[in-house]
Amino acid sequence: MQFAGSHILSIAQFQRHDVERVFQVADRMRPYAHRERVTKVLDGAILGAMFFEPSTRTRVSFGAAFNLLGGEVRETTGFEMSAIAKGESLYDTARVLSGYSDVIAMRHPQEGSVAEFAAASRVPVLNGGDGSNEHPTQALLDLYTIRQELAARGRGIDQLRIAMVGDLRYGRTVHSLCKLLCLFDGVQVMLVSPLELRMPEDIVEQMRAAGLQVEESDALEASIRHVDIVYSTRIQEERFASRQEADLYRGRFRLNQAIYTEHCEPNTVIMHPLPRDSRATARELDEDLNDNPNLAIFRQTDNGMLVRMALFALVLDVVEQVDRHARDVNWYTARRF
Ligand code: CP
Repeated sequence: MQFAGSHILSIAQFQRHDVERVFQVADRMRPYAHRERVTKVLDGAILGAMFFEPSTRTRVSFGAAFNLLGGEVRETTGFEMSAIAKGESLYDTARVLSGYSDVIAMRHPQEGSVAEFAAASRVPVLNGGDGSNEHPTQALLDLYTIRQELAARGRGIDQLRIAMVGDLRYGRTVHSLCKLLCLFDGVQVMLVSPLELRMPEDIVEQMRAAGLQVEESDALEASIRHVDIVYSTRIQEERFASRQEADLYRGRFRLNQAIYTEHCEPNTVIMHPLPRDSRATARELDEDLNDNPNLAIFRQTDNGMLVRMALFALVLDVVEQVDRHARDVNWYTARRF
């Protein structure tokens, strides 16, 4: 894959060596993300961050990652604050905003909308989530985290055993992660969901065609016994016709410390793309797991910075210049990683 100048829209663009390249660059971003060093390699560059759906992690970490490389961020959040609310097309919006930016990160509720926008953009566009289709940068940070967690256990990604739990129909993070796992060998995937929220058939077929061993189940406890990773997901309420319909599924699969202790192998890693739904009716990942050292959810969010910095450095072709524009930080860094 030619990273320089490319859009990042789908996991389908990546080969295994491309993923390894992203991870290699992400590793090099650690001193900057950890505030040990400061770089100004993107001094003068502008990120256009356009988020037409709610977001905390993706929106803020794209922006902070760009800032950490020395660039500036201009944001649009929500349709109501954009001229799209006056009927402007994605084409016109893309032509205009790509004249103001060097790279754009975008989230939009419709499947395929980010690709449509990118086709009209004059600068690279990174998909921050398009409807229930894909969330490629989340999948990359998830796999980077899986690699890190397994390395700490003396393992690599090949032969991974993972259970994905929850709303697999509408969850774009699991769609992208499943596609990404197709690049690895000997992977076993247990898909745990209500029947109505099963993983789309084309993605299951793609995994099987790639040689992955895939099983589907609607029973949580039996499905998490022999896996390295439990990857929990939220019921994607915003994709349902009504809140009442989402209520039918919310709280159906709950992982808490008691279930973990009884059913999981020791050191099973617990992941979630976040946000987790902490309301009493949901709690798919209970807060009583917060002190469990195998809970990797905040290592995932930290790793999002490294991976998004790496993608900016690759797409804007500055990887080899990052260290040349660096210096030590001026301030006392109390942060502990
Ligand atoms: N994981 C994720 O996409 O989180 P946000 O919706 O907060 O961006």
